[in-house]
Amino acid sequence: MIREVAGVATSVQAPTATVVILDFGSQLSQLIARRAREANVYSELLPYDTPWEEIAKREPAAIVLSGGPESALGDDALDCDERVYASGVPLLGICYGMQILVKRLGGELLRLGHSEFGPAQLMLDRLDSPLFLGVPPESRVWMSHGDSVTAVPPGFTALAHTSRSAVAAMSDDTRRVYATLFHPEVVHTEAGTAILQNFLHTIAGIAPAWRIDSWVEDAIEKIRAQVGDANVLCALSGGVDSAVAATLVARAIGKQLTCIYVDTGLMRKNESAGVVAAFRDILHLNVVHVDASERFLARLAGIEDPEEKRIRIGHEFIAIFEEESKKIPDVRFLVQGTLYPDVIESKTPGSKAGHKIKSHHNVGGLPEHMALGLVEPLRTLFKDEVRQAGRVLGLPDAIVERQPFPGPGLAVRIIGEVTRERLAVVREADWIVTSEIDAAAGSLSPRPWQYFAVLTPVRSVGVMGDGRTYANLVGVRAITSEDGMTADWARLPHELLERISSRIVNEVRGVNRVAYDITSKPPATVEWE
Ligand code: XMP
Repeated sequence: MIREVAGVATSVQAPTATVVILDFGSQLSQLIARRAREANVYSELLPYDTPWEEIAKREPAAIVLSGGPESALGDDALDCDERVYASGVPLLGICYGMQILVKRLGGELLRLGHSEFGPAQLMLDRLDSPLFLGVPPESRVWMSHGDSVTAVPPGFTALAHTSRSAVAAMSDDTRRVYATLFHPEVVHTEAGTAILQNFLHTIAGIAPAWRIDSWVEDAIEKIRAQVGDANVLCALSGGVDSAVAATLVARAIGKQLTCIYVDTGLMRKNESAGVVAAFRDILHLNVVHVDASERFLARLAGIEDPEEKRIRIGHEFIAIFEEESKKIPDVRFLVQGTLYPDVIESKTPGSKAGHKIKSHHNVGGLPEHMALGLVEPLRTLFKDEVRQAGRVLGLPDAIVERQPFPGPGLAVRIIGEVTRERLAVVREADWIVTSEIDAAAGSLSPRPWQYFAVLTPVRSVGVMGDGRTYANLVGVRAITSEDGMTADWARLPHELLERISSRIVNEVRGVNRVAYDITSKPPATVEWE
């Protein structure tokens, strides 16, 4: 179907139409992919230099050139396959993406003496542009660039300016090439959503047809095709990713899937029983529940160093998983809950491994000699989409909404040695923190993202009744965050903190003092170990 919008020919594509985002290294590139999905358009983020043959395989209905930290001036500026420019596929350049379009298509750029960074007022010069349908003549946008456009390429029209950028947006409607110097993908750009949707729906003609329920159907078919009649293993952690992955696989191949839940004894109060019951009774998964708490306690005896604890827990977990897997015949695949951010992280230009802060132990780590194929049904999803898929699959809220919990569990919330007694103390304190914050959550804004108790080896003097006490200090941590990468301490109401503190010192034996952690990440990490 072809229709005309403000002089632009647009064709409506099939529901599976994909927008390809070429990533020039901006920290915001993932956000473009998410915004497209929020507009019900399937998006894929690919490295900027992906060869055209790879891009073409996706039959892109539109291509976005992302922002990036480099300058587009200079001979070695990052560039994409030149066939992208000649492809005839609708293009949107954002920030660096606009600058490289200007450079490649024959316009002029100038290095600013100073970067334009932060909010700016966008003033539209062409109110009839399809990119700005529904956008007011003036609105706030977010800028972050060092080069400025002094002449648009032949065939292009300048669409908007700011006080510091004469050309803040441009287009060639005939070729369906659009560009903005500002970032429409960030919330600080008031009309950002409208601009992206105008590009995707109106200009590129992509119907808002991508839905998680059809994704679920499709994923189930793909798993069947991949696995055939082989047996498959999955390590359940209780977390949402492994739960959704396992449920999808079970829908596809039923009893060919065996889930192994290794109970480390390092879980929160009532957690293991709840997790196993939910998987067996509600989701009807085939679950082997291995109670390995004694083995983990033995491996952790006398160990105080956090990194050593993590490593021992990781090794023990894999050993147990392998022992259990040997009991199941003809296993050829392992399910892993890898998410899209993990996939693209490893492909982002200039991404470096960085310094290792903590060895994250996550269930599902594959002993190499087991040589199993991987089933990774969540590879194309963002975390919030995994939750949506979980809801479509009927997972209970307790699993879908579960807050992140570290693989090594309470062991990294006990500073110093992990013993049965100290586990009991932190478990009780944690139960009080979580139940009090859960009860108050409806009135907390923003709702804390993660909250827990930490048992410290610090002892201090107190008085209880007429007697002197010399007992432990418990730390309480509650944070707000988007993804755990950065975090701020939650400004909990004093009355709530008071309830938590007085319940802990009254109800948990061996604790006579409570401190609230008011450190952000960075410089602290979320967990204390
Ligand atoms: P940190 O302490 O590194 O935590 O600031 C960031 C987020 O990751 C969680 N975390 C872990 N998750 N395995 C996990 O799966 C781990 O070993 C691990 N350590 C920390 C932490 O709870 C927070 O949400």
